[in-house]
Amino acid sequence: MLLTRLDVSRPPAGWSAALPLVRHLEAYGLTFTDRVTFVVGDNGSGKSTLIEAIADVCGINSEGGKAGTRYASTGIPSPLGEALDAELTATGLKLLRGPRRKRRGFFFRAETLFNLGQNVSGMPGFWEDDLTEQSHGEGFFTVLDRMVSGPGLYLLDEPEAALSFRSCLRLLGLMHRVSLEGGQIICATHSPILAGLPGAQIIELGEHGIQATRWEELQLVDDWRRFLAKPDFYLRYVTEDG
Ligand SMILES: Nc1ncnc2c1ncn2[C@@H]1O[C@H](COP(=O)(O)OP(=O)(O)OP(=O)(O)O)[C@@H](O)[C@H]1O
Ligand SMILES: [Mg+2]
Repeated sequence: MLLTRLDVSRPPAGWSAALPLVRHLEAYGLTFTDRVTFVVGDNGSGKSTLIEAIADVCGINSEGGKAGTRYASTGIPSPLGEALDAELTATGLKLLRGPRRKRRGFFFRAETLFNLGQNVSGMPGFWEDDLTEQSHGEGFFTVLDRMVSGPGLYLLDEPEAALSFRSCLRLLGLMHRVSLEGGQIICATHSPILAGLPGAQIIELGEHGIQATRWEELQLVDDWRRFLAKPDFYLRYVTEDG
């Protein structure tokens, strides 16, 4: 493990202060117990806010990209990141706070990946291929295979966005391998496939704040189970008035 705990040491500024996630962090902090952690929760529950803040506090560009590298950026720091303290292991200190060129971490942010690709494709330490010449999902794997590998901290925000069922399974295999190679992964997801990685820590964000949970108990797993069992029921629900 590289990152074992987050605590809020200063009052968070701006809009993030009111999020249940942030109030929970202020009261209890958050402990990472496994090499892979999934962050789940509905739209707007704060998954990206948390992942961006972890990126900031671990020295990885919060707009996506590699540890120890700077890009053209809007320069807006994550308000939660500025309030957080990270507890790092000796390995974490070496790989995230050591000499810039030896840092190992990557923030795979699905929504801005192709912007990042325009800046760094072909640069040393990144990937060779031009993402604009690949399909959406192929581009994702070009980046994931190259950048999420070996010891390091890997932050993923909805990496399933462009992936088919089978590609999600391939990503599951990649995550498992990286965890055995000494990497740590923290992944925000809506995918019941990814969250199903055996042995991973799962935290669910919601009105309650942060709750540790198990795959079998996840709302999103229950929703998918019900939908796959009876899609007609849901179709009636969304097409019928009232
Ligand atoms: N720059 C901002 N200014 C004001 N509010 C913001 C800002 N960024 C996020 N928020 C709010 O913080 C809340 C959490 O947003 P966040 O993007 O973290 O959710 P999420 O769980 O990642 O959702 P999704 O599943 O849609 O990606 C939302 O209610 C959002 O409106
Ligand atoms: Mg998000």
